Amino acid sequence: MRPIRIALTKGRLETRSVKLFEAIGFNCAQLNNKGRRLILPMDEYEVVLAKAPDVLTYVGHGACDVGIVGKDTILEAGGGASPARDVYEMLDLGFGKCRFALAGPAGADFTQGYHERIVATKYPNVARRFFEQKGMDVKIIRIDGSVELAPLLGLAHAIVDIVETGSTLRENGLAVYEDIMPISARVIVNRAGMKLRREEIERLLKDMELAVQVN
Ligand code: PRP
Repeated sequence: MRPIRIALTKGRLETRSVKLFEAIGFNCAQLNNKGRRLILPMDEYEVVLAKAPDVLTYVGHGACDVGIVGKDTILEAGGGASPARDVYEMLDLGFGKCRFALAGPAGADFTQGYHERIVATKYPNVARRFFEQKGMDVKIIRIDGSVELAPLLGLAHAIVDIVETGSTLRENGLAVYEDIMPISARVIVNRAGMKLRREEIERLLKDMELAVQVN
């Protein structure tokens, strides 16, 4: 049988995840010297490095058994025929903490007036649900990165985005209008894998849970 595969979100969450594995006592030498390799051995496990939405896809389809991904990615992918339906969310790792927020030019009133409101976001599903709940009719434009640019360039009145320290907003003359929801890193598990390799996966989850508690 192949090793249990753990899909890890590259970038911000990666560093914290490797720290967590080190705290458990796993040998992370390969992960710390990965070069351009994307699949790395870690004790009896295999660690796969992928972009956040792909972590969900690999775990959802069972190509990886366990994944570490932000709640933002899970929320954005949720519903429909998404691979998010084929995973269990098992554990809140408590790091990668940030929040979804509605933001825009400081001092402007997003709700004022009768004109059409345009919102730019990397998370159109999250934004759509948020405005639906508020009963607000808003046009949503998808942007792939540095969403803060959209209101600065006059493309949108506001953005729905992740805010961590708030520096990006502040340094660009933008401010939070409303917090939407908190976000952090989560451990997800493939539903079928959880049945087929329950013992191994539960042991790994237990290790992660203990390491989270003491760190
Ligand atoms: C995220 C988010 C904000 C920034 C917020 O972008 O989209 O731009 O971080 O962080 P702050 O509140 O600490 O300033 P990220 O760096 O992930 O890259 P992206 O813009 O390409 O999405």
